[in-house]
Amino acid sequence: MAQVQAVILVGGEGTRLRPLTYGTPKPMIPIAGVPFLARTMERLHEAGIDDVILAAGYMPLAISEYFGDGASFGMHVTYAIEETPLGTAGALKNVEEYITGPFFVFNGDVLTSLDLRAMLDVHRKKGGAGTLHLIQVADPSAFGCVAHDDDGRISAFIEKPAPGTAPCNDINAGTYLLEREVLDAIPAGRPVSIERETFPQCIAGGKRLYAHVTNDYWIDLGRPENYLAAHRDVLAGVMPLLVEPGITGSGAAELRDKRSIVEPVHLDAGTSIDPTATVGPNVVLGRSCWVGAGAVVRDSVLWDDVRVGPHAAVDEAILASGVRIGTGATIGAGSVVGHGYVVPDGVQVPPGSRLSDR
Ligand code: GTP
Repeated sequence: MAQVQAVILVGGEGTRLRPLTYGTPKPMIPIAGVPFLARTMERLHEAGIDDVILAAGYMPLAISEYFGDGASFGMHVTYAIEETPLGTAGALKNVEEYITGPFFVFNGDVLTSLDLRAMLDVHRKKGGAGTLHLIQVADPSAFGCVAHDDDGRISAFIEKPAPGTAPCNDINAGTYLLEREVLDAIPAGRPVSIERETFPQCIAGGKRLYAHVTNDYWIDLGRPENYLAAHRDVLAGVMPLLVEPGITGSGAAELRDKRSIVEPVHLDAGTSIDPTATVGPNVVLGRSCWVGAGAVVRDSVLWDDVRVGPHAAVDEAILASGVRIGTGATIGAGSVVGHGYVVPDGVQVPPGSRLSDR
């Protein structure tokens, strides 16, 4: 995809995913064992987009140490670090000097199967200042609703409309393809929101923005329940990411005794599971995890080096790297446990808990 660059917005603090984001910035949170941003990079590379600008701010070193100059991904990566958050449009203005032509913008927390080449074709055909990926949802009240005519020309942006008042069900899905002229509409040096300020101003100023409505897989990973839902969809093959659903991951091949596994699961290398434990369905175990005798882990994502003690139970939970679950402890549904946290033997963690050492 010649000469199209990409800006990925990765500067948010990810407050809704705390305590996970105390130790890991949201773009580096793993999806089936691989940082989400690395999966996005792979997607861009496959689409022929190799010139990427990362608009970062929160924990930027965790990002730049992983990707370096991008060469190991076959890409060229430029970093723009914001000292204070500039918002979703301010972040674009901040990278203006690197932008040479039309460019994709990605919210750094959207998992989607959108075909980028198809979107570029649409943009070239329509010829406006920007093309926005939209998807249809039953209830747009929690999203940014985007009104457009039959030709796709966008007429209004309605952020989080009150239930029942939205003029349509198409929502902003967080991927844009913009011409450089859109940057002219963004004031420099202060926080600016692209959804609330820049896009509405573009329309008011007569610039043409077009909708690209698709029925692709799409989810915003920014909330714990969505993070778990995304994994369920990846493991089920609904979101095409893993080669083949079932028992996947390098740890699956290593595991000799699969009696304890209920498909689908994804196991990374060095994982050890007692044959009397139950792991799955819908479980991801990162590198070097250990599940003891009689323990049960269901519908959960465990990062690296997590130990689930004998007869412990983990259900619909997210456990960050280094977490220890004591013998016989139970982790209630919807709980999120931060890096290195130790749940003592026998403790019953109530549903929806957020546990961390901070
Ligand atoms: P919450 O605090 O949980 O709302 O998460 P967030 O801070 O990531 O905000 P949100 O989910 O609304 O952000 C959407 C995308 O824009 C994410 O990929 C963020 O990393 C990114 N983003 C949000 N604000 C900024 C910013 O000020 N600068 C940059 N560079 N990126 C941002």
